[in-house]
Amino acid sequence: MAPKMSKIRTVGVIGAGQMGNGIAHVSALAGYDVLLHDADAARVAPALDVIKGNLARQVHRELVAQADADAAMKRIKAANLSDFGTCDLVIESIVEQDEAKKKVFAELRAVLKPETILASNTSSISITRLAATTDRADKFIGIHFMNPAPVMKLVELVRGLATSQETYETSVAFVESLGKTIANAEDFPAFIVNRVLVPMINEAIYTLYEGVGSVEAIDKAMKLGANHPMGPLELADFIGLDTCLSIMQVLHDGLADSKYRPCPLLVKYVEAGWLGRKTKRGFYDYRTDPPMPTR
Ligand SMILES: NC(=O)c1ccc[n+]([C@@H]2O[C@H](COP(=O)([O-])OP(=O)(O)OC[C@H]3O[C@@H](n4cnc5c(N)ncnc54)[C@H](O)[C@@H]3O)[C@@H](O)[C@H]2O)c1
Repeated sequence: MAPKMSKIRTVGVIGAGQMGNGIAHVSALAGYDVLLHDADAARVAPALDVIKGNLARQVHRELVAQADADAAMKRIKAANLSDFGTCDLVIESIVEQDEAKKKVFAELRAVLKPETILASNTSSISITRLAATTDRADKFIGIHFMNPAPVMKLVELVRGLATSQETYETSVAFVESLGKTIANAEDFPAFIVNRVLVPMINEAIYTLYEGVGSVEAIDKAMKLGANHPMGPLELADFIGLDTCLSIMQVLHDGLADSKYRPCPLLVKYVEAGWLGRKTKRGFYDYRTDPPMPTR
């Protein structure tokens, strides 16, 4: 299957965490060759296993043909950053920290072709600020997938001040070729989805912190009372508490409004290394089946 409607052929994905593996999955399934890199090389093999399992689930649900899943798997290769010279599009999806992202962009300077588009999957950080640290601000854009990327339909596209129209149009064609729907967001802290969603999650954590309700009561209240498919604490664990905290810090710093103050309980969980599902402990303990609240 050749990718449709897009000039892109090879996609480089940096970061093989929950988002990186999802982006590699959807890109390969749409026919792109994918290079997958993680600073921790030991994370790539488990990420490939996750992709294989997720593709198998799609086959089982008759959403994807077995032959397409097999072909997609073959298109994804573990790679070093030094291999990224063949990429037409690179999507950075590492930890939500300015400095770490800037360091990766600096390493890419000597590697990428001049015409390569560089995108960040950041949930909240200024695209304009990240772009300014690269050698290609006009070819830099925010392509913000939702979690889990193989399931969620939406992608936010965020243009920085210097992003060119050509970069935007190529990115639109790429995202549409994945079968996703685009919402355009202006480059302000946390864009649209997380500007609304993560303060709601932070407020749910304050509700727990102040003893207004238990973990179970808060999640049950929002599922049955507001028709949310997941409770906010369950969702925080799913997103990753480190990512939630980083987003609140970006909102707090960027908008200088105390209403975005991260809840001290969220800070404490992150300091404990209780980051949610990915570390098996957050507001719930995932080492038991079913997961039990941790307080
Ligand atoms: N979790 C979500 O719901 C969600 C949704 C949309 C976007 N995002 C964004 O996607 C990005 C990744 O989030 P995630 O949830 O996949 O995190 P994660 O913790 O699951 O994975 C991050 C990965 O990046 C790797 N990494 C860290 N520093 C690196 C470096 N310098 N070079 C290469 N790899 C490096 C880590 O080893 C890890 O495997 C963040 O910017 C986050 O804000 C997250």
